[in-house]
Amino acid sequence: MRKPIIAGNWKMNNNPDEAVALAKALIPLVANAKAEVVLCPPFVDLVAVGAAIRGTNLQLGAQNVHWASSGAYTGEISASMLKALGVSHAIIGHSERRQYFGETDETVNQRSVAALAAGLTPIICVGESLQQREEGVTDAVVTVQTVAALKGMSAADVEKVVIAYEPIWAIGTGKTATSQDANDTIKVVRSAIAGVYGAALAEKVRIQYGGSMNAKNATELMAMPEIDGGLIGGASLKAEDFSKVVNF
Ligand code: PGA
Repeated sequence: MRKPIIAGNWKMNNNPDEAVALAKALIPLVANAKAEVVLCPPFVDLVAVGAAIRGTNLQLGAQNVHWASSGAYTGEISASMLKALGVSHAIIGHSERRQYFGETDETVNQRSVAALAAGLTPIICVGESLQQREEGVTDAVVTVQTVAALKGMSAADVEKVVIAYEPIWAIGTGKTATSQDANDTIKVVRSAIAGVYGAALAEKVRIQYGGSMNAKNATELMAMPEIDGGLIGGASLKAEDFSKVVNF
């Protein structure tokens, strides 16, 4: 059985003091979670949040990671630097990064490979735009993104990866995919993994849903057989709301 994993993507929100307050408010509310819980604050909050959650069941994630281990990459952060801070996960290829910061399937793959090599768990985001959904190419889009992201990885590495299926039109819009549509597309992602690595391995990979997942719809989404967790944006910024998702 796949252990559910719920990650909060705080995006560019919360200075270190605010981040610590949010983390501390969350700790008692999610102490008995059945799911793995990961907080992904901005880079500048990682040290403070890491200290606040030490010794709890909460894990620490970054929102991006560079593919090189060090060097002349002004403004970037390497996987080994994150690892040294106690970070265990890294979101990679979020649609906002693909849309606004030139992230491509190739760089998503490079970042994911580097994350794994340093012992971080990549949370790799895939998902279609509204136009792509309306054109009926959703399955093709997520298949290409998934296969490209995993390129060159060993089976042992793929098993560790988490994929987040996030329809772009559902992110931050309050429009959630129906649980059936989310389940169906996640099945397509799983088939894409199976196509390269076989069905047995694909069954082990955890695939989250993301896109306006919140306290109200988490139970229904999490009840779907293919949905193994959530990547939560807006609803992760309030302890009460996020705890309800975590304790779906
Ligand atoms: P949202 O964001 O929950 O605010 O829609 C999800 C995400 O972007 O990961």
